[in-house]
Amino acid sequence: MSDQPLLKVRNLSKFYGNRIGCSNVSFDLWPGEVLAIVGESGSGKTTLLNCLSTRLMPTTGSVDYHMRDGQYRELYHMGEAERRFLMRTDWGFVHQNPADGLRMTVSAGANVGERLMAVGDRHYGRIRQTASEWLERVEISTDRIDDQPRDFSGGMRQRLQIARNLVTGPRLVFMDEPTGGLDVSVQARLLDLVRGLVNDLGLSAIVVTHDLAVARLLSHRMMVMKDGHVIEHGLTDRVLDDPREPYTQLLVSSILQV
Ligand SMILES: Nc1ncnc2c1ncn2[C@@H]1O[C@H](COP(=O)(O)OP(=O)(O)OP(=O)(O)O)[C@@H](O)[C@H]1O
Ligand SMILES: [Mg+2]
Repeated sequence: MSDQPLLKVRNLSKFYGNRIGCSNVSFDLWPGEVLAIVGESGSGKTTLLNCLSTRLMPTTGSVDYHMRDGQYRELYHMGEAERRFLMRTDWGFVHQNPADGLRMTVSAGANVGERLMAVGDRHYGRIRQTASEWLERVEISTDRIDDQPRDFSGGMRQRLQIARNLVTGPRLVFMDEPTGGLDVSVQARLLDLVRGLVNDLGLSAIVVTHDLAVARLLSHRMMVMKDGHVIEHGLTDRVLDDPREPYTQLLVSSILQV
């Protein structure tokens, strides 16, 4: 791990009018680290993730990002073009619903290849070859390369979305309930796959989930949110095995339905 955080998040708040989306969130994310954000419905997980990934502008606060050149840049002061470039190259975003992260009516190969073209690759044969390797990596048979994701199952779509996001070698991946809409058996395999890829590639990731088992399997650290506030934050094993806050104790003992 590098000796400097990838993200430095300070006092991040988002209000929707008078309603709190998330309030006063601060943390550092280290290279290679997976952070889970957990909490019940409406606790502010998606709001926080969307602010961190600049899909949403916070009301107050700052996020400094450690660029590849070693400099820190404040995300909300970046120009739109620079932010878009970062999202295409350095970052991935895996949506809960694969249809939000894929182009459903272009081929699987093109869905993956498009991201390579966005970072300047122009060599058709090489793009197709890389796309095909990535399909294999996410356990999609390469003879489906010319099929459209609308003809894929939910689990296949989600794996394709992951391939599309990882093909450019991002340093940071945001995931919002990546296994949310899937059958339990499909979820387990997908989680295994994601865990393997994140480890192999040394990725940093921020994963929103209401499922503590997902947090346990994927994350090193976790933050527990309630009513927009982070009420507990620590190493995943510590938080799950020895929760300090009464609310986290309820979550862990699954007295609360989340
Ligand atoms: N676009 C919006 N306009 C107004 N209020 C919003 C908007 N989006 C979210 N909120 C409110 O902000 C709070 C946090 O919502 P958010 O979607 O971040 O929660 P969540 O933890 O992701 O919930 P879930 O698990 O159901 O996805 C809620 O009170 C919600 O009603
Ligand atoms: Mg949400």
